[in-house]
Amino acid sequence: MKTQMRNLTLLLFLLLLFLLCSSVLSWKKEEFRNCNQTPFCKRARARNPGSCSLSARDIRIENGDLKAKLLPREDHQNPDQVHSKPLILSLSVNGDGILRLKIDEDPNSDPPKKRFEVPDVIVEEFDRKKLWLQRHSTEVDSSSSSKSSVVFLSDGYEAVLRHDPFEVYVREKGGKRVISLNSHGLFDFEQLKVKKQDDNGDDEDWEEKFRGHTDTRPFGSQSISFDVSFYGADFVYGIPEHATSLALKPTRGPGVEESEPYRLFNLDVFEYVHESPFGLYGSIPFMISHGKSRGTSGFFWLNSAEMQIDVLGAGWDAESGISLPSSQSRIDTFWMSEAGVVDAFFFIGPGPKDVARQYTSVTGMPSLPQLFATAYHQCRWNYRDEEDVENVDSKFDEHDIPYDVLWLDIDHTDGKRYFTWDRVLFPHPEEMQRKLSAKGRHMVTIVDPHIKRDDSYFLHKEASQKGYYVKDANGNVYDGWCWPGSSSYPDMLNPEIRSWWAEKFSFENYVGSTPSLYIWNDMNEPSVFNGPEVTMPRDALHHGGVEHREVHNAYGYYFHMATSDGLVKRGDGNDRPFVLSRAVFAGSQRIGAVWTGDNTAEWEHLRVSVPMILSLGLTGMSFSGADVGGFFGNPETELLVRWYQIGAFYPFFRAHAHHDTKRREPWLFGMALKYGVGCAAGVQLMSFTFITQVLVIMQNLERNTELIRDAIRMRYMLLPYFYTLFREANTTGVPVARPLWMEFPSDEATFINDEAFMVGNSLLVQGIYSERAKHVSVYLPGKESWYDLRTGAVYKGGMTHKLEVTEETVPAFQRAGTIIPRKDRFRRSSTQMVNDPYTLVIALNSSQKAEGELYIDDGRSFAFTKGAYIHRRFVFTDGKLMSLNLATSALGGAQFSSECVIERIILLGHSAVPKIALIEPDDKTAEIELGPLFLKSRRGNDFLTIRRPNLPVAGDWTIKIL
Ligand code: GLC
Repeated sequence: MKTQMRNLTLLLFLLLLFLLCSSVLSWKKEEFRNCNQTPFCKRARARNPGSCSLSARDIRIENGDLKAKLLPREDHQNPDQVHSKPLILSLSVNGDGILRLKIDEDPNSDPPKKRFEVPDVIVEEFDRKKLWLQRHSTEVDSSSSSKSSVVFLSDGYEAVLRHDPFEVYVREKGGKRVISLNSHGLFDFEQLKVKKQDDNGDDEDWEEKFRGHTDTRPFGSQSISFDVSFYGADFVYGIPEHATSLALKPTRGPGVEESEPYRLFNLDVFEYVHESPFGLYGSIPFMISHGKSRGTSGFFWLNSAEMQIDVLGAGWDAESGISLPSSQSRIDTFWMSEAGVVDAFFFIGPGPKDVARQYTSVTGMPSLPQLFATAYHQCRWNYRDEEDVENVDSKFDEHDIPYDVLWLDIDHTDGKRYFTWDRVLFPHPEEMQRKLSAKGRHMVTIVDPHIKRDDSYFLHKEASQKGYYVKDANGNVYDGWCWPGSSSYPDMLNPEIRSWWAEKFSFENYVGSTPSLYIWNDMNEPSVFNGPEVTMPRDALHHGGVEHREVHNAYGYYFHMATSDGLVKRGDGNDRPFVLSRAVFAGSQRIGAVWTGDNTAEWEHLRVSVPMILSLGLTGMSFSGADVGGFFGNPETELLVRWYQIGAFYPFFRAHAHHDTKRREPWLFGMALKYGVGCAAGVQLMSFTFITQVLVIMQNLERNTELIRDAIRMRYMLLPYFYTLFREANTTGVPVARPLWMEFPSDEATFINDEAFMVGNSLLVQGIYSERAKHVSVYLPGKESWYDLRTGAVYKGGMTHKLEVTEETVPAFQRAGTIIPRKDRFRRSSTQMVNDPYTLVIALNSSQKAEGELYIDDGRSFAFTKGAYIHRRFVFTDGKLMSLNLATSALGGAQFSSECVIERIILLGHSAVPKIALIEPDDKTAEIELGPLFLKSRRGNDFLTIRRPNLPVAGDWTIKIL
């Protein structure tokens, strides 16, 4: 009887647990609107190709741009019959061969207000490079017999405006199209209206309801939509942020399982699912196409309102009767936005790196982070108090695990009042930071945009007095619910408010902050727990009468910008800021880092982290990462270890966890097992078997810690390489973590691969995404070989290898023909490695050649912008390694010097066994021996190692192998 009762209780308990877990671990889909519940999206999707009746008239060159009026075609036939006010179209050309298309209402036709154009995204340099068009030529389009106006775009490319029906496209001079807009006649532009007393028009125009929230629409529907076609394209990519594959799947079309369009609407989505086109925290409306025949092109729509994008499957337009003049493969897409104007940029590539450069020439280069920020970050919601912080910090040392930054989440504040400390838990914040700083470490605290509505809180008092909060539709201060309870939100669109906010980070204003403290911006979508779709109502009002619907996707961007400016302004203004943000928009790459929000400790979330990071990188956000370990839930040991192993290659490498999860710092994540055994001990007594079990488990714990330590150390060894890549991103826009096709653009086998990625041009990393995997298939592109990063084993390129999986690492390879700089000594933090010597790992290709780069600066200030850096190019050819200068002296004359030397050179794939290395210009020699790939390697003495050549890292030299 007793046993039955016990079993029943157990069963009930398990059932309860299951119900609890399944209700907690589910995405609350119904909280968010789908396309059908979004009138502008539903209407746009229902329209047929060819429904746009606008034609371009009054075409002329004005202020160096090609200008036209867009009017309905009917007017053409009967000029007296005016159905609609004209739109103004302008095409401008930039020196880098970028075409910009703007379409807006005609200011002369008295629109009720000016539509919103997103400020502070386009960099000044872009405007300075404008080409002043002098003339356009006219030709007759053979397929439609309409006239077209043609302007010069760049050598080999032209921009064309077909008049009737209007269409804009870029083509190669020979005629091949690259990108076009409105080729399918889906363009639609709803002009602003003012409701008249007796207006009984469509109710949807003036008001919209969703889950008890009413959106008043004082200007009626104001959406814009159009089709964009990419020619010579096999796949399209980009438009983050979505938890989905890298190559975007069709959302409509014959044989396609119809799905929601890709949604761009910054939202705080609780427990997001790992495969969905649903909008997450950030929105970058930039799409890249890539194909074997043409290469790469891109399309960017600068618009911060809600956007929905369909990728149309081949044949979707079969019944439209529209045929585009092209024999190339093509991908059609359909873009819909709730408000704003058309401000679109066409990028011609033709290579993937060209498109990265072109896009960042419009929206800005990724900023160069401080060195410490590129190392490992330890975060948790929450480190409880100063003792906890001290304990965690010292445990890293005890376990010989390097880390650079310790993070404090919302509970470190006094009642979620940002810029304050809970003085019971954190009585000595300055001292706490100083202790970390003494070991070369830093601290990050969280500062969110929701301000607690508490009259005794200085920030709220000031913001209220100055009228700095966003207003509701009636003009009263908007009051929403977030972590602190009732909250209001500073209007970050207003530059004056941004500069007020920035002042709050001065050391005087942010009491308890020190120069080693940096910032984390969260909930900046903005997240409003009781708002429609967990955000701010669309009819809320910003600076200049801008409705929230118009600026929504950029709110977090302005908040991030103001915070980062604050860090620059504090102190002497010569410290590079570090601010992590959850919400991003086009241009966020100039400001700081991003992470992919609240993921879950599941294998599928580990898998999707890679395409998410790659998509962010493709759209400029080079400095991105995912919470290592998964934010929600408790990862099994194996998952956590695998997450560290791939996370060590994310550009931004941070472990983070929800407060309900078990502690999981690298040395104790197996504790649950230990506790389990502890309980069992009471029943089992201390039998021999039990003691053996404990010992085995303890050993496993040790082993797991060792594996995590190895993963983190791998990141630290590679920091010189990572930092060099961050600089590359900073000067070219090419991301640190890249899809394989960015390095191998003509290799079709790479186009949909999003389980592996390149770190720079030299390293390929493949994740392990399943439990107890025994084998993994790894595709290694290109003609040259690849060297296993740890063992140096050689693998042929251009084929898939079925490899045995080891627990030690995820598969990672160095590409033959490359040189990777490393620092092999283990320290507590990156800042303590500054004076350490370098190791160069040279992986020779089949012609016995290799090349690589090393960038070094002070790792913290802006002096590099004035030329204070070292940039070397290493070239190995004809048995000689040369170090050449890449730094340009023209930058401003500032100097940076380093006493560091290269203490080891490892040669992989050398065909002979030389004995000695001769160093020029000094005529010194260095020994060549067989040595291991890693200093502490357990095995292998089989690589040529030039020991202690002690070459100055900053100098020109040649070393000959004899
Ligand atoms: C949000 C963040 C998460 C953070 C938590 C508390 O959920 O995404 O990282 O720990 O808020 O601040």
